[in-house]
Amino acid sequence: MARSGVIATLVAILAFSIAPCSAQPLRALADARDLYIGAAVSIPALDSPEYAALLVQQYNVVVAENAFKWNNIHPAPDTYNFAEADRLVALARSAGMAVRGHTLIWDQDAPAWLDLPGVTQQQAITAMRSHIYRVVGRYRGQIAAWDVVNEAIDDATMAPRTNSVWYRLIGPDYIAMAFRFAHEADPEAVLYYNDTRTEDLGPKSDAVFELVSGLLAEGVPVHGVGWQMHVENGFRTTVDHRANAARLAALGLELTITELDVRILLPASEAALEVQAETYANVMEFCLDEASCRGVLTWGFTDRFSWIPTFIPGWGAGLPFDENYRPKPAYEALRDRLLNG
Ligand code: G3I
Repeated sequence: MARSGVIATLVAILAFSIAPCSAQPLRALADARDLYIGAAVSIPALDSPEYAALLVQQYNVVVAENAFKWNNIHPAPDTYNFAEADRLVALARSAGMAVRGHTLIWDQDAPAWLDLPGVTQQQAITAMRSHIYRVVGRYRGQIAAWDVVNEAIDDATMAPRTNSVWYRLIGPDYIAMAFRFAHEADPEAVLYYNDTRTEDLGPKSDAVFELVSGLLAEGVPVHGVGWQMHVENGFRTTVDHRANAARLAALGLELTITELDVRILLPASEAALEVQAETYANVMEFCLDEASCRGVLTWGFTDRFSWIPTFIPGWGAGLPFDENYRPKPAYEALRDRLLNG
């Protein structure tokens, strides 16, 4: 099934000639700098020839927007649905793209079948271990980096959230366990902690720094931190972002900007699109200047498929390509920085 899905996608790519986006695509410029440039992928959207062709043309790393999440890939104790994840991994392999695995443990995506009265700590640990062993094991050697734990810091307390299913059933050690299980399943895998609103200096990034410092001190295999960076138009990095990146690098951790999008209050004016381009240029420049930064992924790549309008009503147009797959000033800004930054 997965093979035919890949063939269909590749045929669509070959058959569909998309408007060329200037000379060199983003991936060629990023490859020349040993940098990842990527996007989150909506698997159903791969049935669109334009979507698949532009993805393969422009990016050297992909991440599944939802396909690897627990409730999609493991919806019941003895049920795994790998078709969508397999399709993305196979497409990436055929197109010479890397894959990020998102995400193994996320409170917002905890298995519904585990959050029931009477579930014991041991049952929860067993469920976590078997899930991580099965999923990480299946894609062993095919995933550039795993978001092992996503968004574990509570924005209210600025500490690991205790209202998490995992915290409640297992205790604070669930985070270390998740990383250890992932490492046991694939000792070569690069293992990330991923979070949002944690890129500047402040209580939340301090909490992330404390979390990963503590894990490393316990010998837990953590290799990187993901800054999601879902930002508003006009965002700029500051010396605080550099100081935050520096302290993570001092721990020996790599950094990836994992989910960048730059939302605009709709309707997006021409002026707003130019401001957005400056934000994209600024973030790319930041990653180019930070030796520990491995790359930039946007959360989607065309405004036709973005989480923003649904989840943040009145906002949108956050990505480098518009709803008709045309490059926006933001795309040209990314190219310019990769070329001349
Ligand atoms: O596929 C079903 C569809 O069959 C059903 O008809 C529809 C209505 O119920 O739901 C569809 O599933 C939705 C899925 O997106 C695919 O569109 C889920 O309800 C919805 O919860 C899910 O939202 C995703 C969200 O994470 C929660 O998992 C967004 O697409 C995705 O962009 C968003 O991504 C997160 C990252 O994983 C973590 N960082 C923040 C980022 C943005 O929220």
